[in-house]
Amino acid sequence: MANFNLKVNGKKSTVTADDDTPLLWVLRDELNLVGTKFGCGIGQCGACTVHVDGVAMRSCSIPASRLEDSEITTIEGLANENLNPVQEAWKELDVPQCGYCQAGQIMTATSFLKQNPNPDNETIRNAMNGNLCRCASYNRIEKAVALAAKKLS
Ligand code: FES
Ligand code: FES
Repeated sequence: MANFNLKVNGKKSTVTADDDTPLLWVLRDELNLVGTKFGCGIGQCGACTVHVDGVAMRSCSIPASRLEDSEITTIEGLANENLNPVQEAWKELDVPQCGYCQAGQIMTATSFLKQNPNPDNETIRNAMNGNLCRCASYNRIEKAVALAAKKLS
């Protein structure tokens, strides 16, 4: 075990974990940020997606100890007092079913729209392809990303 410093949602914290402890478990168990979900644990489902320096990453597959110089954002840090436009689009189109995958979906969508502000449907589908949803809410997700793009333009 070692102590190291992380900056999560703008706040610096010192955490204690093994060098190889995935960021996901540090977020959930040390920092009580439980909006980030465990799905597969092997980088295949996207449920654990967070932003590292603005880029969507799978927190189950990155050791937290490597991120001392990074800005980490979780679903809890995405909005301030108001929902961000991606969250608003999700709410407007009533996207979630059970909800388990949705934080990861929103984190992927937000990062994607920063890099692709005006995507067509196929580009949206490809970008969201790695985020699995057991409830198959894919059509609503695609529509919500398109609506969020409009809101952001
Ligand atoms: S839990 Fe990380 S990708 Fe599935
Ligand atoms: S809403 Fe249930 S897993 Fe996606």
